[in-house]
Amino acid sequence: MVPAAKLQRASATAAGKVILLGEHVVVHGHPAIVAGIDRGVRVTVVPHGSAGGAPDAADARLGQAIGLATRLLGLGPCQFEVVIEGDLPVGMGLGSSAALAVALLRALAASAARAPSDDELAAHAHEIERLFHGTPSGVDSTASTYGGVLWFEAGPPVRYERLLLPAPLPIVVALSKTPHATSQTVGSLRERAARAPEVYQPVFVAVAALVTAARAALFADDRAGLGALMTMNHGLLRACGVSTPELDGLVEAALAAGALGAKLTGAGGGGAVLALPDGPPGPLLATLRAAGHDCFAATLGAAPASPAAVR
Ligand code: MEV
Repeated sequence: MVPAAKLQRASATAAGKVILLGEHVVVHGHPAIVAGIDRGVRVTVVPHGSAGGAPDAADARLGQAIGLATRLLGLGPCQFEVVIEGDLPVGMGLGSSAALAVALLRALAASAARAPSDDELAAHAHEIERLFHGTPSGVDSTASTYGGVLWFEAGPPVRYERLLLPAPLPIVVALSKTPHATSQTVGSLRERAARAPEVYQPVFVAVAALVTAARAALFADDRAGLGALMTMNHGLLRACGVSTPELDGLVEAALAAGALGAKLTGAGGGGAVLALPDGPPGPLLATLRAAGHDCFAATLGAAPASPAAVR
């Protein structure tokens, strides 16, 4: 049996994410472009006096995640509470469960004076994500671990590449009023694609072409081109059945307010829309807020969270 680790109080943070292009097709073997955002989750591990029990968790799935994190880090039986804080909207397709997994792993590792590599953390977080989402590609846990703007392929093996942008990219995230449903939208699209591969596979290939073109647009700082590709990606996500009238309405509202492009981000079925402002995000934010939408701005690719990485 693994001996109980001696824990000290420790806190750690991890970033949320937006998928610029390529959600869903990334589950089917195609690339996606994902970016960490400067909103995230902080986890604090507060050890109890004695070892030997299960970690405290009000929520059963959170309890499973904490138990799995403890096992993956090889900590043995230990007793502690976790305090979860943060400014990342939950259930909006912004990677809150991956950020929770990464922050939890980092905090637990720090608490037990362990120093797993980022690659180990990302792999462990992917395991924990399976508890929440069934068959995740790993794009969320990778983005949350490394931050920055990443080209991601699920493999196996997982491959990611940091994309160094010529200039930071301002974006606006508009929240719908409906939580997203990752395992439901991923599962039902998988079923539809399995029933009619001749219909869905060409659409997935078309999205992959948009992702490749978006990479070139990002490197060229061609924001109008990138925006057009994002809006096309939304159209194909809608064609795949993972958008909703509410998300379509948010996309239309962003475009009518002058966005260069807009699309749902994440799994869809609810969640958030990502819009590319034509210049600083203030005017787009103001117009969307005046229309009653809850939104915030973020800057992608501003400061890489960890050194350049290619795997
Ligand atoms: C969720 O953020 C992105 C999806 O492609 C699912 C996944 O890749 O695990 C919808």
